[in-house]
Amino acid sequence: MKKLTALAFVFASVFAFSQESVDQKVENLLKKMTLEEKIGQLNQYTGDNAATGPITINANKQNEIKKGLIGSMLNIMGTKYTRQYQDLAMQSRLKIPLLFGLDVIHGYKTTFPIPLAEAASWDLDAMELSARIAAVEAAASGIHWTFAPMADISRDPRWGRVMEGAGEDTYLGSKIAYARVKGFQGNLGDVNSVMACVKHFAAYGAAVGGRDYNSVDMSNRMLWETYLPPYKSALDAGAATFMNSFNDLNGIPATGNSYLLRDILKGKWNFQGFVVSDWGSIGEMVAHGYVKDNKEAALSAITAGSDMDMESNAYRYNLEQLVKENKVPVALIDDAVKRILRKKFELGLFDDPYKFCSLEREQAALNNPEHTKAARAIATKSIVLLKNERDVLPLSKGLKTIAFIGPMVKPKRDNHGFWAVDVKDVDSTYIVSQWEGLVNKVGKKTKVLYAKGCGVEDKSKEGFADALNVASQAEVIILSIGENFNKSGEAKSKSNLQLPGVQVELIKELQKTGKPIVILINAGRPLIFDWVADNMPTIVYTWWLGSEAGNAIADVLFGDYNPSGKLPMTFPRTEGQIPIYYNHFSTGRPSFNEDKNYKSAYIDLPTTPKFPFGYGLSYTTFEYSNLKLSKKTMKNNESITVSLNITNTGSVKGEEVVQLYLKDRFGSVVRPISELKDFQKITLNRGETKTIQFTIDNQKLSFYNNALEFVSEPGDFDLMVGSSSADIRLKDSFELVK
Ligand code: NOJ
Repeated sequence: MKKLTALAFVFASVFAFSQESVDQKVENLLKKMTLEEKIGQLNQYTGDNAATGPITINANKQNEIKKGLIGSMLNIMGTKYTRQYQDLAMQSRLKIPLLFGLDVIHGYKTTFPIPLAEAASWDLDAMELSARIAAVEAAASGIHWTFAPMADISRDPRWGRVMEGAGEDTYLGSKIAYARVKGFQGNLGDVNSVMACVKHFAAYGAAVGGRDYNSVDMSNRMLWETYLPPYKSALDAGAATFMNSFNDLNGIPATGNSYLLRDILKGKWNFQGFVVSDWGSIGEMVAHGYVKDNKEAALSAITAGSDMDMESNAYRYNLEQLVKENKVPVALIDDAVKRILRKKFELGLFDDPYKFCSLEREQAALNNPEHTKAARAIATKSIVLLKNERDVLPLSKGLKTIAFIGPMVKPKRDNHGFWAVDVKDVDSTYIVSQWEGLVNKVGKKTKVLYAKGCGVEDKSKEGFADALNVASQAEVIILSIGENFNKSGEAKSKSNLQLPGVQVELIKELQKTGKPIVILINAGRPLIFDWVADNMPTIVYTWWLGSEAGNAIADVLFGDYNPSGKLPMTFPRTEGQIPIYYNHFSTGRPSFNEDKNYKSAYIDLPTTPKFPFGYGLSYTTFEYSNLKLSKKTMKNNESITVSLNITNTGSVKGEEVVQLYLKDRFGSVVRPISELKDFQKITLNRGETKTIQFTIDNQKLSFYNNALEFVSEPGDFDLMVGSSSADIRLKDSFELVK
């Protein structure tokens, strides 16, 4: 014990010393800087090769870097280019290194499943690992900073950016945001780590109608209860930076929102890193109708706490004047500059501005077979088996002929999903197509026949005949359909989420053959496929799985991996049900058992979704039993241990995500009908039983009351354990007493 304390003391002093020395270095440098150079540090431009937004600036960037008027560049990647740009910064008076930022969202050269797909794995270690590998590759390519993770909760699949987040649930989203920050940042400062940037602060996922860049209007209670926790969790993991969001929140654009940035983030949460605006979001406050011009926009943003201006040119051309007019105190600018410089020091860029520019390291990191292995493993874990009614899956390896049909069989690029920034030239990036994956898997023993059938968005049925022809020769049909990769992502909101084109008609034609059909649905969001879900017995949701997509899909189809994915978002029956999410409030007229008489329901639809949150099948079955609570009443300084047994009752090894939900029966504000409060992903051999435990503590029972206090209130709680939010296997209740 004594030893530990002494050790802790040494660590604390070393930490304090190094902290102090970074702060001291920052102060010393700041003293040498002109106001113009300080403002330069707050200025970020995109490179010209891979714009990720509308470029509006025609600046002479190279010269400006040499003058010390740019602090950071985004969209410059590769050691060759980052070195060239860093060379320019080294010609500036104070030689302050540039920071290179990039949207490394789900991998860099090796791509992993899109974040929504990864969230379906419920495997936090795997998600941390994929972020780690992305960081290793990006850092080796000269990148210091990724604009990830996106911690925006969203309950609206029309919003194209659901692909980039962890779905609808606050608890799951918080855990994932934490894991991903840890993965990206590793030991920040070493050459294998990048800074994380938690985005988009705040509540971007609640854009009205799921339309990108749209307004957000919500109660403060809802903001604190549902939307803020994942950002906070990412901060608790040590996130170095935050990005603000495009939306206005209750009438104030997030970029100029002091409540969000000063009061919450930098105030109550004591965030010490820096905030970057979203692309052009400072200037966009003019279009919001919140400020008159770019100058007022700069004033609003810097006052609110946005430290770095991405692509608005608002700080660059207005802050100096605003200082002269005494509207912006230099101290405010100094604070923003210090936050940025501190990160540059912490990354070690002042010791070696080319620290991330080693060509040898780049080549090794971008060609590491361990990375592809990990990509395959997490891709298999992200696949969700939606239906397997006649046990068509897993397929036998003894099949003689398979017909592999559909518009997604042969393409490569789609498998990466949106935000795969390094994919310029598909041929030079690493992607295993679905065709290659299947053919690799079955080898020469099985004949695999191919027909496209139709294009994703085709109106023409010309290819049906060919599809029917190959189908007629096969024992099993695998049909790969969906929505193209670039139909989800930024600025990809959609009002119609049905399977596009004539794909459903192709299914109907193939169904007539009477052969078993396995449907693979590829998409970056929950799609709507009501008829298919009702009529086709075997459906696999593959999302976009990244570089190893083809191999991962084949692993699942042939049972080399037993699927374990669970939906991180509710799948609606029709667009009219949106927003639909499992943890809604209790209404005064709830509709149970489809009784809709004077009830809160749509009279033309069942009250349930098509597939609920937390849902996903396995090739085996699990039995839940023996639920025990260590006590039935608890005080708020106590906890309850919940234990239960899970048995693998099927014939193969499998993984189950055991989900724990709570319902607070009464509260000073209405409470959700159930809330995920814990989960465990466990592996069980066939016939094996494991006892697992959860702990219920006061934190799990607390919520934001109307005064925005995080409190628990005495009363009864229902406890539910199950295989999805709608498949509750065991129940009990307990009471919280004063
Ligand atoms: C706009 C997006 O909203 C944001 O997420 C991204 O990081 C930036 N563009 C930079 O590409």
